[in-house]
Amino acid sequence: MIFNIEVNNKEIKARKGETILEALERNGITVPTLCHMEGFSPTGACRICVVEVEGKNALIPACSYPVEEWMKIKTHSPRVIKARRTIVEMLLSNHPDDCLYCERNGNCELQYLAIGLNVRERRFAGKKTVHKKDLSSPGMVRNPSKCILCGRCVRVCEEKMIVSAIDFIRRGSRMVIGTKANHGFNNQSCISCGQCIMVCPTGALYERSRLADLQDALHNPDKKVVVHVSPTISVSLAEEFGLRPGKDLNGLISSALRKIGFDRVFDTTFAVDLYVLEMATELSRRIADGIPGPMISACCPAWVQFVETFHPELIPRLTTTRSPQQLMGALIKNLGPGLLNVDATEIFNVSVMPCTAKKYESQREEMTVNGLIHTDVVLTTRELASLIKLHGIDIQNIETELDDPPFNIRSSAGKLAGASGGIAESLARTLHFILAGDEMFDLKISELRQGNSRKEVYLTMGSHQIGIAAVSGISEAVKLMDEIRAGRKDLHFVEVMTCPGGCVNGGGQHIGASDRDIRARLKSLYDYDDKEPVRVAHKNASVHDLFRNHLDYPVSDKALAMLHTTFKRSNATE
Ligand code: SF4
Ligand code: SF4
Ligand code: FES
Repeated sequence: MIFNIEVNNKEIKARKGETILEALERNGITVPTLCHMEGFSPTGACRICVVEVEGKNALIPACSYPVEEWMKIKTHSPRVIKARRTIVEMLLSNHPDDCLYCERNGNCELQYLAIGLNVRERRFAGKKTVHKKDLSSPGMVRNPSKCILCGRCVRVCEEKMIVSAIDFIRRGSRMVIGTKANHGFNNQSCISCGQCIMVCPTGALYERSRLADLQDALHNPDKKVVVHVSPTISVSLAEEFGLRPGKDLNGLISSALRKIGFDRVFDTTFAVDLYVLEMATELSRRIADGIPGPMISACCPAWVQFVETFHPELIPRLTTTRSPQQLMGALIKNLGPGLLNVDATEIFNVSVMPCTAKKYESQREEMTVNGLIHTDVVLTTRELASLIKLHGIDIQNIETELDDPPFNIRSSAGKLAGASGGIAESLARTLHFILAGDEMFDLKISELRQGNSRKEVYLTMGSHQIGIAAVSGISEAVKLMDEIRAGRKDLHFVEVMTCPGGCVNGGGQHIGASDRDIRARLKSLYDYDDKEPVRVAHKNASVHDLFRNHLDYPVSDKALAMLHTTFKRSNATE
């Protein structure tokens, strides 16, 4: 039912059942929010969104109060603005005064609120609360001193990631967001997904930066520093420079990285093609051997960590093919000495990823060769932007450059890896070629591009009916796993991405992107598939060269030794 309400002396349309905030936003009226998150149930905790409703004595939180037909609302009356300003002043009263040095300086919601409400002096001088930073995780830093107790991180961790690694601890004025028994992140159920970073309005949560280590390597004459860039980065970096969301910076990033001083610039998308071909071959063998399905993807390290910690019974279902990041690591550290004419110890391998969990993955003990770590440093999209700015490169005014051989050729199927359903779509194309002996008639699989957290499709491949599903968000993955445990047998492959929507929305991406921005990134990835000549992983000529020259054929003994990994039960929560 639609009815009129009065807002700031003008009539606007409202819908029965929606909140005041939803009605206001649909009509282009903005009120500030802090604890509110779209898609989550409101808590009404921070009260920054209060409005004045005629006939009500108290101010009303717009994010949690349902709109009613009789309402006359004032969104920016002197009383409302004073209340909001007081809330911000109270939050600032015990906040560290180090904005200039803060990770989120320039992209901090508390800072924006203070500016928007014209807070220009300290009226309340509270006692500064100083807490120790949690530096225990390879992927994340927690700085409780900057926390304003909005609770967003707690809800995303509990409701979307369902691991509840963090919560409100202690009472009253001593309350903080902490981990169980206030131990470090590394000793918890945290899966390093970084989604709490993406929703934190302040600098209380951020990625563990390795820029200083990278700078040391770049200036070390005894190191050959190589870098490879994940397929998503070219369509998500633009926002860090204030450019149009989804603008493709392909070629410009390679050029910038060379100017910074990297000795070789490779494309991780090459390794996605390798991942897809190796994994499709692995799956075809499982099908031929009658091993019960489904096989489950393991390219998302947060998902792997979740399985190892909470559902180790699923480990035998995980593909053993290494993730594209770690495939590149294995190739660079094993084949790099021949390519670069140096010892493996002199190669410093950097990956640029949309993800904080990739930092954790790079440090897994399985990801080493002869005691050498495969991936020395993982940078997020945000850190790459910082690096480019640090080196004074104007990304809009440089020429595009190609990546370096031999890891520069890719298919558009590899680029799809950034979208939830993209790995599944790429795998379906290659599995069809393996099982049916020819290409799929229509390579675009719409069922794997539509919908939100779950997509499913059934495809005929030769004499096989193949069921494929893609889920994003751990809560959706767990629902599907419950169905499989309950006896569902129609699926042969399941792709799991921890971050809602996939890597385009990873925990290392630009903070503050809207759903529309994420859709723009997705569109840019799908555009590749419409215009590129090579659209299947198994036609990547460089992947074929790799097998011919070094690994014989997919899932050969040599490929198993270099391209596969193992998983183990984790005791993190015990
Ligand atoms: S990184 Fe993910 S799992 Fe860890 S605390 Fe944040 S939201 Fe929870
Ligand atoms: S850590 Fe960030 S998201 Fe979590 S409660 Fe504190 S301010 Fe909010
Ligand atoms: S945003 Fe409405 S109470 Fe916090």
